[in-house]
Amino acid sequence: MIEVDVSRAKQFLTDAEFADAHSQAKESFSTVINKTGKGAEWLGWRDMLEDPNDAKLEQLDSLASDIRADADVFIVCGIGGSYLGARAVIDALSDFFGHNGPEILYAGHNMSGKYLEELLEYLDQSNEEGEPKSVYLNVISKSGTTLETALSFRMIRNWMEQKYPDDVHDRIICTTSAEGGALNELIKENGYQKFVIPDDVGGRFSVLTPVGLLPIAVAGIDIRTLFYEAVSKYEELDQNPETVIEYAAVKYALFEKGKTVDVLTSFEPQLRSLGGWLQQLLGESEGKEGKGMFPAVATYSTDLHSLGQFMQQGPRNLMETFLIIDSPPNGVTVEEMDGDHDGLNYLSGRSFQDINHRAFEGTLKAHTEGGVPTVVVTLNKLNAQHIGEFIYFYELLTAIYCYCLGVIPFNQPGVENYKREMYKLLGKK
Ligand code: PA5
Repeated sequence: MIEVDVSRAKQFLTDAEFADAHSQAKESFSTVINKTGKGAEWLGWRDMLEDPNDAKLEQLDSLASDIRADADVFIVCGIGGSYLGARAVIDALSDFFGHNGPEILYAGHNMSGKYLEELLEYLDQSNEEGEPKSVYLNVISKSGTTLETALSFRMIRNWMEQKYPDDVHDRIICTTSAEGGALNELIKENGYQKFVIPDDVGGRFSVLTPVGLLPIAVAGIDIRTLFYEAVSKYEELDQNPETVIEYAAVKYALFEKGKTVDVLTSFEPQLRSLGGWLQQLLGESEGKEGKGMFPAVATYSTDLHSLGQFMQQGPRNLMETFLIIDSPPNGVTVEEMDGDHDGLNYLSGRSFQDINHRAFEGTLKAHTEGGVPTVVVTLNKLNAQHIGEFIYFYELLTAIYCYCLGVIPFNQPGVENYKREMYKLLGKK
């Protein structure tokens, strides 16, 4: 279960401000579920939960098991909505060090020549048994034309064609639109395996399609639980939407009151990538027509030593969202030391999780009292079940909140501008 506590943020609003925003959010909720808003043709992320495709889940699971049985490395090649969701779930649910199953690596999310050079060199190195590495590649691009992804795909594909002349086609899996784009041409020419990204699901809403589900399954995470918990949340929130309406209302009212930054933070480094997914989901959806709150991501307590001062006493245009795990996985406990030379024996016997939680409680109090409206989102446990709920909850929240702002949640017209300038400089015809 996830719990959302907006009470500390509401303290910064008058009753009238909240009531106005609440009625707007209620209307926006109806706009989403009745498909009456602008951009309603991109609501496929809800429809697929209404009508789950079990055969697809089975197919993804079965391919993932085959890959897990054979691969040393699985490369996810994509950018933005084509990789952030998978990475968020995989990082949240995997160990920090080592890996259970193939090592998951990422490419196509930058254009650093050094990154790609080192990646190819790393692939060339032997595996732990001293054998050549067994590499699989999942290239993910809805448009099939994104430069970062396409360039990395070209280089890795070339490397793979030389290493695996006999079965390269089985090792490359493409996830793209049903038709169009250069990637579909390559699929036809080379007979690569293909999964389809539905046209009515935008990149940042696509983590529960093959875009996210194949890499997540290859990482050994139970995609059925993830998917079906999102389905349960969908059903629950359509019946009882008050939590999500209230949260959208608070964000909207705070924006109207001059808050222009939402700092998304957690005390667990494992949740950093989930913050990255949320950053894109919110940022690319709301940042339009001069509106929206800039979604910043921070990991505490690390970033309290760099951003803490600003959070406490900088301009009061911030709100803050804490992503908290109620029962984090067990960690180490502070040991008693003879002599107590570092003066830390007062913490002996206490778990690091407990100490970390006190740091959260202290920060929450200090920041709220320092004038920052704070929202606390608690996941009972860090597992596929709660992450599944979390994903749908925030997708719905984003849609409702954007309609409150009066912007279309599902497009991203501004992203084209940098591409136009870049292509001009690169001499693209
Ligand atoms: O959310 C989005 O739509 C974007 O972030 C895209 O996912 C990103 O630009 C990558 O696009 P594509 O999947 O077409 O390569």
